[in-house]
Amino acid sequence: MNNSDLAIIILAAGKGTRMKSSLHKVLHPLGGRPMLHHLMDTLSPLNPTRKVIVAGAGKEQVEGSVGHMADIVVQEPQLGTGHAVQVTKDKLHDFKGDVLILYGDVPLITIDTMQKMIETRATSNAAVVVLGFTPEDAKAYGRLKVNENENLDAIIEYKDASEEERAITLCNSGIMLLSGAHMFGLLDALDNNNAAKEFYLTDVVEIANGKDLTCAVVEADEQEVMGINSRSELAEAEAVFQNSRRRYFMDEGVTLTDPSSVYFCHDTKIGRDVTIGPNVYFGPGSVIADNVTIHPFCHIEGASVGEGSSIGPFARLRPAAELGAGVKVGNFVEIKKAKIEDGAKVSHLSYIGDARVGKNANIGAGTITCNYDGYFKYHTDIGEGAFIGSNSALVAPVNIGDGAIVGAGSVITSVVDKDELAVARGRQKGLGGWAATFREKQQTKKNKKKQGS
Ligand code: UD1
Ligand code: MG
Repeated sequence: MNNSDLAIIILAAGKGTRMKSSLHKVLHPLGGRPMLHHLMDTLSPLNPTRKVIVAGAGKEQVEGSVGHMADIVVQEPQLGTGHAVQVTKDKLHDFKGDVLILYGDVPLITIDTMQKMIETRATSNAAVVVLGFTPEDAKAYGRLKVNENENLDAIIEYKDASEEERAITLCNSGIMLLSGAHMFGLLDALDNNNAAKEFYLTDVVEIANGKDLTCAVVEADEQEVMGINSRSELAEAEAVFQNSRRRYFMDEGVTLTDPSSVYFCHDTKIGRDVTIGPNVYFGPGSVIADNVTIHPFCHIEGASVGEGSSIGPFARLRPAAELGAGVKVGNFVEIKKAKIEDGAKVSHLSYIGDARVGKNANIGAGTITCNYDGYFKYHTDIGEGAFIGSNSALVAPVNIGDGAIVGAGSVITSVVDKDELAVARGRQKGLGGWAATFREKQQTKKNKKKQGS
């Protein structure tokens, strides 16, 4: 897909009042990234030569988030969707290719639909292509008046529509493709003689028809053009996104025992023949190789898991956890910024942070790498085939050599050499019969006290 003469405009000047947020509406996350980034990523295979974002309130936030990816123009005051497109004139007045107008708060549109609009414009030589949809409830959307030739005569805004026009079920998503050669000519002819006293972008359809230019319609799924104006609409969009990821991974050979309880991030990568149990959450930056099993209730973020490994139940893999092949991470284990080499096992109740665990090493239950002194972080290095006894505290920085054994309950503060046994705990002392004598003495004392009272 390479369209050398495509420009993109994203309208994002609206205040987003209904989000009740200090974060700009289009920067709220969808699949773990701002919805505006989601939209920009979706359209990137089209290789647009120019990208312009129209911002208003909260423009600094938009600038900070996507200023490096697009030109930001400011629309102040906001006099309607037509006016919003007019303010891109400085950036696009000389642009003669196709101009695709998207909405920052309509992030689920697919590349296929965008492509279809571009193809429709090319094949029908239309000056305007409008993306329509037939919602279950047509609410206050603009209505599309299509004629017998299947061309678009006009878009009637709900506020301005007659009863008869309101009965039309084909609605305007707002998304539109315009021929750059005609765009500003059409926009210059807009007025605000309407119920909202705004410059409607939708009026370009009637203006184009008046100039004998063609206007076409492409239809999309209702879910794809869903707008996000509130937190509950954001949650609905997230559900749509998650369902599409779940379907995608299952189609790619991943077993999800209970798909509806597994949450993916936009960049989650999973190999084939991976099985994921219920209630697993992926944060950004996770890569899972083939034949991995992720048991229920795991939280995985910024981690890579090698082939054939087994994770959880109830495990937490934090950023920069790098697990090799055939690794076992069991229940209530947290791993952060640590390399766990092939075949190593951390099976129960451990914290491994800022560490390397060598090949085939075995970390006993309750082992903690003490990596932090309140100011700095320190590294723990555990050699190949080492065996760390249960309930050991490894006080970093510390090195444990290949094949070494650490006795259970040790607090290790200095180097353990290759193949050494290190036991760092109070030595066990045994006093034969002491317990029986103790009990007898205490019982006698207690009996005397009872008699006295
Ligand atoms: C618009 C369409 C309507 C369509 C509906 C789909 C017009 C006149 N109407 O109506 O046909 O059914 O979207 O949701 O276009 N914006 C700006 N600057 C402005 C005004 C709006 O950037 O001055 C942006 C908003 O941030 C928003 C988008 O444009 O992302 C749509 O604006 P909105 O006010 O929601 O338009 P609607 O009245 O819903
Ligand atoms: Mg709207």
